[in-house]
Amino acid sequence: MADKTNPVDIITGHRRMRRNRKADWTRRMVRESQLTVDDLIWPIFIVPGSNIVEPIDAMPGVNRMSIDKAVEAAREAADLGIPALATFPNIEMSLRDETGSNSLAADNLINETTRAIKKAVPNIGIITDVALDPFTSHGHDGILRDGEIVNDETVTQIARAAVAQADAGADIIAPSDMMDGRIGAIRRALDASGHQNVGIMSYATKFASAFYGPYREAIGTGGLLKGDKKTYYIDPANGTEAMRDAALDVEEGADMLMVKPGLPYLDICWRMKESFGLPVFAYQVSGEYTMIKAAAANGWIDGERVMLETLLAFKRAGCDGILSYFAVEVARILAKR
Ligand code: PBG
Repeated sequence: MADKTNPVDIITGHRRMRRNRKADWTRRMVRESQLTVDDLIWPIFIVPGSNIVEPIDAMPGVNRMSIDKAVEAAREAADLGIPALATFPNIEMSLRDETGSNSLAADNLINETTRAIKKAVPNIGIITDVALDPFTSHGHDGILRDGEIVNDETVTQIARAAVAQADAGADIIAPSDMMDGRIGAIRRALDASGHQNVGIMSYATKFASAFYGPYREAIGTGGLLKGDKKTYYIDPANGTEAMRDAALDVEEGADMLMVKPGLPYLDICWRMKESFGLPVFAYQVSGEYTMIKAAAANGWIDGERVMLETLLAFKRAGCDGILSYFAVEVARILAKR
């Protein structure tokens, strides 16, 4: 009974939010969102050669791996129950050119990685990024002509690269380039080459973000990139435009949508899930990872708790899963619970 003389009761009446928070068991009972290993997609970086595990300075705890080591990592990820990997190649500088032609090679680094992992660890999904930036000498995601990233020519090439990736065994193609019309073009090219079962996870809303810095070191595009990506990535100020861009991807045949970066764009995750009902993924990008690791290394935050809290926040915001460099670390923690 509310006590009519108690000032708190006068304000709250019978409504007291803290009742459900009073013990660990009540908190667990009313918990709305859960993070499980099924939510995790692990992005990994590949380098040519063998027996190489090389740390990335700007991403403490993340390594570039040669294919043989990536296979071992894939096996560990699969054993932990992580559903899928997202692979990113760091190819030799001598193979990078103005048009990113190596993206089309059947035996390029990303396709050879897919083949090796599929052969050794068939029960983990492979998601391949099909943008041109790992392959271009200028670090842009498309073909650069007279200072412009040309849209349609890039789309034609990306669709061909996607077919090469599917031929190698990729399960899901993930275009991160933000060219107009790419989802439809990739869908048609995949279908025409017998890859009806290969899905498309669109990097539907990719923002022109400063959070990608460490990734560019990881794949070796940091020093190459001339200018910025503002003529093709979305302005961080624009949520409505992002929704319109995602709607086009849905119409063109995307099976799943992605928001990138993640934490600063939780509003977009929520709006996309509400609007389309498609699976929505967030990419907790390199800069997000690095900020947590750096602060934790200084003892300024509890790294493990902040990591878990950010991943849970994605679930609360409606995401079906998260691409995260923390995937293995988190999967190990979840396995112990
Ligand atoms: C580019 C691409 C980027 C990332 C993955 N693919 C962004 C960029 O370099 O502009 C970023 C991933 C990360 O920061 O973790 N196609």
